[in-house]
Amino acid sequence: MSKLEDIESKRLFAICTCGGYEIFNAVPALRALARVVRQAGSGLAAEYTVRLPMNNLDYGHIPVPIEIDSAIIISRAEAQVGDICDRIADGRNGRHHTLGRLVTGVMAPAYSAMAKSTVQSLKGLAGEPADSGLGFRELLPLTDRSIQVDANCTGCGVCRQVCPVGNIELVDGSPLWLHHCEMCCACDEWCPSGAVHHWQRSSGAKYHHPSVTAKDLRGGPSSHGAAQQAQRAERQKVD
Ligand SMILES: Cc1cc2nc3c(=O)[nH]c(=O)nc-3n(C[C@H](O)[C@H](O)[C@H](O)COP(=O)(O)O)c2cc1C
Ligand code: SF4
Ligand code: SF4
Repeated sequence: MSKLEDIESKRLFAICTCGGYEIFNAVPALRALARVVRQAGSGLAAEYTVRLPMNNLDYGHIPVPIEIDSAIIISRAEAQVGDICDRIADGRNGRHHTLGRLVTGVMAPAYSAMAKSTVQSLKGLAGEPADSGLGFRELLPLTDRSIQVDANCTGCGVCRQVCPVGNIELVDGSPLWLHHCEMCCACDEWCPSGAVHHWQRSSGAKYHHPSVTAKDLRGGPSSHGAAQQAQRAERQKVD
């Protein structure tokens, strides 16, 4: 967003999906995005949220009861998307706009504590010591160190094809992770042999939207993956 050109002249709106509660899980991300857009000299005209199934179908870490039937969640999401289209056309804001601002403000200390514990768990996934000085941005790309591939791998290359950031190469018929992972879990979710094993939360049932196919995601490393790599190189230069 910060690199968009002529950002002030555009009407910007954002939609964030989540697997948990929209108000707690998606709204804070939208607030953070709004901050980035403000810093870039513009503003979000509207912010919307859509709840989708957890992409690993694991709801065990959510401490309060929540609807977990994927079919119900998807049919609600479809209705929501229709509502969002209407709201965008009418220039209205998302349902959680006012309450979301309030909740994000009240929850700020809790989010800050959670951010600290997230960094600690990323250290584990990245194989870094607990007292490592690395932060979120440095740790996230390294989390593929905890991905394992088992003997069921056939060398088909689907994992390489679906990776949105070109983070997988096939070497002698086996996948090799290149340590610029975005932790999206696609290689795990889409491996036709179930041979990829991620961090503990996605070791259970796999999920992807019934209307999406692996083919839809292809073009990863060669097209948008390449664009992402260029962006990353640019970001590293800036950092
Ligand atoms: C690594 C990872 C962590 C996630 N963490 C959360 C989370 O803490 N809370 C949440 O509501 N959704 C979380 N999600 C997203 C949901 O799991 C949900 O499946 C997703 O938004 C579905 O839409 P998408 O696959 O298009 O992103 C996470 C997804 C990934 C890949
Ligand atoms: S998608 Fe699965 S089976 Fe195919 S190369 Fe990757 S790990 Fe191996
Ligand atoms: S598909 Fe996602 S999780 Fe797998 S290597 Fe690529 S970015 Fe990482």
